[in-house]
Amino acid sequence: MFSGKARAYTNIALIKYWGKENQELIIPMNNSLSLTLDAFYTETTVIFSEELTEDRFYLDNQLQDPKATLNVSRFLDLVRQKADCSLYATVKSQNFVPTAAGLASSASGLAALAGAASAALNLALSPAELSRLARRGSGSACRSIYGGFAEWQKGTSDETSYAVEVPSNGFEDELSMLFVVVNDAQKDISSRDGMQRTVETSAFYDGWLQTVPQDLQKAKQAIAERNFAALGEVTEASALKMHGTTLAANPPFTYWSAESMLAMNLVRQIRTAGIPCYFTMDAGPNVKILVERKNEAMVQAALAEHFAPQQLILAHAGPKIEILSKEDA
Ligand code: ADP
Ligand code: DP6
Repeated sequence: MFSGKARAYTNIALIKYWGKENQELIIPMNNSLSLTLDAFYTETTVIFSEELTEDRFYLDNQLQDPKATLNVSRFLDLVRQKADCSLYATVKSQNFVPTAAGLASSASGLAALAGAASAALNLALSPAELSRLARRGSGSACRSIYGGFAEWQKGTSDETSYAVEVPSNGFEDELSMLFVVVNDAQKDISSRDGMQRTVETSAFYDGWLQTVPQDLQKAKQAIAERNFAALGEVTEASALKMHGTTLAANPPFTYWSAESMLAMNLVRQIRTAGIPCYFTMDAGPNVKILVERKNEAMVQAALAEHFAPQQLILAHAGPKIEILSKEDA
C-alpha cells in the first residue's frame, strides 16, 4: 500500500487562460497569470493498494459516479505510467470550495490530486514537473503548485508547458480578493466546453489572442512596480475580453447573470467614489474583486448593502501546494 495526502489552494487568473491549442495534452493558446488564494482549497488522499480491482473516488465523502471516477482514473493512469505501477487507488477528496461553480475547484482539485498521487508513488517531482502533471488534469491546476503569483507559460509541448512563480517581492501580501458568490450551483457550461466552443466558433477569438501578450506584459510590470491600479486595470480588461468572446460564439452564451452585472456596476461605482478596486470573472456568474488590503473593509461594506454576508468571502494570497503526508506499508 502506498498513500499520499496533499493540500492545494485555488487560484484566480488575472490574465485568463481561454482556449487550447492541444486538447489532449492541455496546451493552451495563450500564457496566463494568476494569484493563489488562501480561502478555498482541496485536500486529497490517494491510497494505491493491491486489494483493489478498480479505482474509487470519493468527493466530500460521497462515492462518485462512473463518469467522475473515469476522469480521476485517466489522470491516475498518467501517474501510474510515470511510476511504472499498475495498482488501483482509492481517492478521497474534500473540496473547501464549491465544486464546478466558477470558483476554481478544478484548479485546487487537480493540483491536490497530482500532489497526493505523485507523493504516494514516490515520484519526487520538481515544481515544474508537478505543474506539468497537474496541467494534464486541468489547465488552471498547473498554477496552483505555487503560492502568490504564477505564470503558466504555454510552451509548445508537454515538456515545455508549465507554470512558474512570478517574482513579486511580497506584493501579493498587500492584496485582497473579495468573492461575491451570486450562485454556487454547478454551472451549465464547464470551462472546458465553453473555451472549446469559443475557439472553434467565436468571431472575437482572434481579437482575444492578439492582445494577451501585451496584457501579460502590463500585469508583470505592474507586479514588479507594485502598481495596484495598473494591475487592476489589466485584470479587469482581460476578464472583459475573455467574456466578450463567448457572446460571439455559435451558439452564443454568457456566464454573466443579472447579479454579476450588479456586482460589476458596484465595483465601478466604488472606484468612481475614489477607492481603487477591479473585478474579474471566470466560467460562472460569481464576481471576484481585487482590492488593496488596506481598503478591503470599505469595499466589503459597500457590497454588503446589496449582498448577504454569506455571499461575500474575503481571500488573501495563499501558499504553495503542501504534501501533508506519505506512507509506504
Ligand atoms: P470550477 O469552476 O469549479 O473549476 P470546472 O467546471 O472548471 O469548475 O471544473 C469542475 C470539475 O473539476 C469537476 O466536475 C470535477 O471533474 C473536477 N474536480 C473538482 N474538484 C475535484 C477534486 N477535489 N478532485 C478531482 N476532481 C475535481
Ligand atoms: C476561465 O482550467 O478549468 O477559469 O483546462 O479544460 O480543465 P481545463 O479548464 P480550466 O479553465 C479555467 C478557465 C478560467 C480562466 C483561468 O483560470 O485562467
